[in-house]
Amino acid sequence: MNETEKQSPFLMACRRKPTPYTPIWLMRQAGRYMKEYRALRKRFSFLEMCKNPELAARVTLLPVKKFEVDAAILFSDILLPLEPMGVELEFKREEGPVIRHPIRAMKGVDRLRIIEPEEDLSFVMEAIRITRKELEGKIPLIGFSGAPFTLASYIIEGGHSKNYVLTKSMMYQDRSIWDRLMEKLSEVLIRYLNAQIRSGVQAIQLFDSWVGCLSPSDYKKYVYPYSKRVMEGVDRSVPLIHFATSCATLLEDMKRAGGDVIGVDWRVNLGEAWARIGYDVAIQGNLDPVVLLGHRDLIDKEVRRILGQAGGRPGHIFNLGHGVLPNTPVDHVTALVEMVHQHSSK
Ligand code: CP3
Repeated sequence: MNETEKQSPFLMACRRKPTPYTPIWLMRQAGRYMKEYRALRKRFSFLEMCKNPELAARVTLLPVKKFEVDAAILFSDILLPLEPMGVELEFKREEGPVIRHPIRAMKGVDRLRIIEPEEDLSFVMEAIRITRKELEGKIPLIGFSGAPFTLASYIIEGGHSKNYVLTKSMMYQDRSIWDRLMEKLSEVLIRYLNAQIRSGVQAIQLFDSWVGCLSPSDYKKYVYPYSKRVMEGVDRSVPLIHFATSCATLLEDMKRAGGDVIGVDWRVNLGEAWARIGYDVAIQGNLDPVVLLGHRDLIDKEVRRILGQAGGRPGHIFNLGHGVLPNTPVDHVTALVEMVHQHSSK
């Protein structure tokens, strides 16, 4: 453990070392619920903000200046590496991300480029360098990528999906296309994450947001080998958080696939989840983001419940079970961070 890790409760918790209080950061901590973010979005599109390193760094720091969070997460998106691979990407106001030419045949997979992240995504690397400088070592910066399954689902479906019919159909009916796509994505993600680490991120989160749509046996067969490959290919001198939603039936296999920390959503009891995966791995989670729309007493009760489930064991990082929702009151985020720190102080 190096000096930076020793000074950061977040990094210490990733390594399951005791901390003076339970660290907290929030997925989507920079977003539409903040008026500063909405003001910038009036002037710039989402992609413009991601691709301008100064702006991306500025947005990354918005929640850091406002709340006592224990880590910053780079302002970016899991879909950005798809563009240099040759996948056209658009963010529509109401619909979210849209991929204009989804890939459903081997020809399309063959055309996908293996990227050179330092060149193709130089704006990400520059945003990391600027953010690190601005943070002055106060809290660590988290980098991230999507996991192979979640990215494959966007490439195949063309956007968000309800039943993942096209993704699963490719898995079941065209195994060789599926495997080739997952191989290419794995290679890209290893390169991308290692480039982020070289540029200065101090932890990594792998988002497998939609993998909960799979049965445990399909997860093992079609996803596990690739997620494992990515996590084995990444420089592990920095801790890695492996996150998914609706993953209650996949927890043990996710842990086996890798990660110093397993990120869980609110659909599982955090205490039971930790007991199942074992205490030789850290855990992150898992407040329902909708709780933040409720009364302060409710937030307080839920914070105490989750801290109670973690039982004061080293290796719990407090987070939401998924991203902050756009209509979340800002002062409830302030209150949440304070409550977690206060109730967990030793
Ligand atoms: O956590 C953070 O604060 C860092 C920034 C971040 C964003 N997206 C910013 C964003 C991160 C880590 C992501 C990851 C991401 N992106 C995931 C995995 C996490 C998850 O939510 O499961 C996924 C699936 C995506 C794809 C994506 N990007 C979707 C589905 C959407 C539309 C949904 C929405 O909230 O509008 C986006 C757009 C997006 N990514 C926004 C932000 C702040 C909203 C853009 C805007 O309109 O301003």
